[in-house]
Amino acid sequence: MSGSHNSLVFSGMQPTGNLHLGNYLGAIRNWLKLQDQYRCIYCVVDMHALTVDHDPKSLAQATREVAAAYMASGVDPKRSIIFNQSQVAAHAELAWVLNCVARIGWLNRMTQFKDKAGKNREAMSVGLYAYPVLMAADILAYRATHVPVGDDQKQHVELARDIAQKFNNDFGVADFFPLPEPIIQGPGMRIMSLRDGTAKMSKSDPSDYSRINLTDDADAIAQKFRKAKTDPHPLPEAEKELEGRPEADNLISIYAAFSEQPKQAVLDGFRGAQFSAFKGALSELVVSKLSPIAAEMRRLLADPAEIDRLLHKGAEEARALAAPVIADVRRVVGFVG
Ligand code: TYM
Repeated sequence: MSGSHNSLVFSGMQPTGNLHLGNYLGAIRNWLKLQDQYRCIYCVVDMHALTVDHDPKSLAQATREVAAAYMASGVDPKRSIIFNQSQVAAHAELAWVLNCVARIGWLNRMTQFKDKAGKNREAMSVGLYAYPVLMAADILAYRATHVPVGDDQKQHVELARDIAQKFNNDFGVADFFPLPEPIIQGPGMRIMSLRDGTAKMSKSDPSDYSRINLTDDADAIAQKFRKAKTDPHPLPEAEKELEGRPEADNLISIYAAFSEQPKQAVLDGFRGAQFSAFKGALSELVVSKLSPIAAEMRRLLADPAEIDRLLHKGAEEARALAAPVIADVRRVVGFVG
């Protein structure tokens, strides 16, 4: 990633359900280091939460929980901007313009929509379909250049690039929007369900045993790893022997991500071990990393007014950054006023 003074990092997370290990390893954890070098904006995308059935009574609390998870993990509101999307109208305003730039054929290719809609496509909200365009607006409203996300969001960031490129071409404004790049690196970019090594770990999986939530206590974490699906073989010697063993690969990846070493280094330490022994070590490692975060989240959530104040302040900063971009967009597309 270039260190140009124009670099700007943007990422976000939906306030829907419990945050889990995949969200932490695939996203938040990678956001922390970027703060040392870049201007970073980390958003709680509460407008995206409306694209599927949601409970208005729990949305505010879920929004505060995500903000608390960011801060408890080490996102520093003094250095980075933390806010919730719906407080900054620029996102919705730009999303409309970009809806008119993006093509239906492009959205038809989005695998996440296909996965979420399943056979029920006709009954889904228009918002769920247009969701990746709102995501493009989130990024482009700040002319963000880098987007640290998990592997499942790669296609959406690529769509944002295509939309930016088409806007620049259509309106004859080369370089108006930079083409945002995804940052997806390391072993934690695609954490799988603990029940099925071929399915992504997800907030929407009905089984709580499929995921480790950021707020799970030590007993729950140990129990979930104990029950995690594995195969009957011991841990292999070489990384390539993990091929065709998705559950084993997933547990090794989680260990590698938390201990910040390559998968092969983990295997060097555990080759030939039985999963029962490895799972014990894995639980200990994960508990040692997550329990301070859960404790700090609880502390922050005890004062919701303070979280709201921080989100409000972050939204003011975000509004100020987006305002000149929106003014330029309005001029370029020909709006009066
Ligand atoms: P969301 O809320 O589904 O997920 C938030 C982040 O967590 C990552 N993630 C995972 N990483 C590894 N393994 C997993 N099993 C796993 N599950 C989730 C996601 O890749 C993501 O980085 N559309 C986005 C939110 C969004 C956004 C944006 C992101 C809205 N606007 C602008 C970046 C930039 C989403 O639904 O993420």
